Amino acid sequence: MTLAHRSLVTIDDFSNKEIEAVFSLASEMSDSMGEQFGICRGKVLASLFFEPSTRTRLSFETAMHRLGGSVISAADVKSTSMAKGESIADMARVVGSYADIIVIRHPWEGTAKVVADYAGVPVINAGDGGHQHPTQTLCDLYTIQKERQTIKGLNVALWGDLKYGRTIHSLIFALAKFGANILFCPTPGLEVPEHVIKKLITEYGGELEKREDSDQTVEGEFFPLDTIYLTPGSPHQLAMMPNISMQIELKAGVDALYVTRPQKERFAADEEGQELREKFPVVNKKLLRGKVFSKTLVMHPLPRIDELAYDLDADPRSMYFKQAARGVPVRMALIALLLGIKEISIPQEDSSSQTDYPLYNQGFGVRCPNPRCVSVQETEIHYLKPEFKIVNREPLTLRCIYCEHGCEPKYVASSDWHEGKLAEKKYHRADSHWAKKIKPENLLIFDSESEAEAHGFKPGTYAREPHQINDEKSDGQS
Ligand code: NCD
Repeated sequence: MTLAHRSLVTIDDFSNKEIEAVFSLASEMSDSMGEQFGICRGKVLASLFFEPSTRTRLSFETAMHRLGGSVISAADVKSTSMAKGESIADMARVVGSYADIIVIRHPWEGTAKVVADYAGVPVINAGDGGHQHPTQTLCDLYTIQKERQTIKGLNVALWGDLKYGRTIHSLIFALAKFGANILFCPTPGLEVPEHVIKKLITEYGGELEKREDSDQTVEGEFFPLDTIYLTPGSPHQLAMMPNISMQIELKAGVDALYVTRPQKERFAADEEGQELREKFPVVNKKLLRGKVFSKTLVMHPLPRIDELAYDLDADPRSMYFKQAARGVPVRMALIALLLGIKEISIPQEDSSSQTDYPLYNQGFGVRCPNPRCVSVQETEIHYLKPEFKIVNREPLTLRCIYCEHGCEPKYVASSDWHEGKLAEKKYHRADSHWAKKIKPENLLIFDSESEAEAHGFKPGTYAREPHQINDEKSDGQS
């Protein structure tokens, strides 16, 4: 396996071995910084940041400069032709013809995938809305690995905005991949989205245990633990007593506490300034004086606002400036590997965490429900077909291939209808027994009755709710 000419859009794009290869090269480069200059001479990195950034953009650009390559950049959508309504695909094709590698940050979820599909050069996702931020995750894991020599079996607490934090979403899957337990400590109302939890459990195994008591303290200190994710290898997985796994995990201590700021720029109008949120505690020296935190790595992707106190900066447990500094060697290693300038032989992994789901790519009937998804934007719908993975048949559940949001469409039909008469062109409820018989390759999916009818389908017997059918039967109709 090689990383040459590949893209990094989500953290699932790399296997554990590939991530470890990036880390070992990053470590080597960081020990011999001066010797790296010139290895990327003649190569151009395009740095496209359509959302604010300090660390990610500057560390990517520093990385390329330290490798002796050049950087071209666009740091504001208003200064590019996207302000004139140019599509992501056209922009990607053009920039891909100028540069050897593209780094992109954009507010629309799934944008990096579209750029990777059209650019023809390796693409690195530097954050796509609230979806993922895989290179921040590489810096986070690299830091844990450096400080603790392993990730497996550690207890990592995620604190703050777990709903909109893209660093959180990438980190959740990465921690699960490497066998860590995750302690979820969300700010009330900013819990991990359902589609992330579903993917975590179905694709990475393990178990979720919700805290049963409402006591938010541990050893007398405030600790708003809401749910715990136990990795499949965790020894007490079958503990039957409520909260028992939590107690066992907490006794072992919190190995890392990953704090995040509220991602206010992504809040819905009704989510602004809710009272509970204001009462959410600041992580400071006092909060971390309990025994469970005695060896905790205090982490933060930065920028911090006021969720993390300055009184921790000089504390040896604080890792956030190290995380940021390590962004340079990690990104140098990544660029060199994706450009194929450095090769590391990576053994093929026996099992991939990527499940092969059937695809729904008819391009009609259902659209992604996420208003921030790239696939529903006005400039993109001319060429982007909605496309989903069919991740479950009961209930029928789709996952958008761009932003990974889930949806459960209500109606289906079979593309086989024409074998009968035109009168047989019927749609049915997705949870009816008839629907379950349709082969994935014949499945037509509609998110509403009007959508099915707009495509010429009429309601079948099983288009209505069971009680409606029974009512009609008892009226003598069938
Ligand atoms: C993060 C981001 O942009 O998602 N910042 C970063 O890249 N280090 C976190 C944040 O903005 O809160």
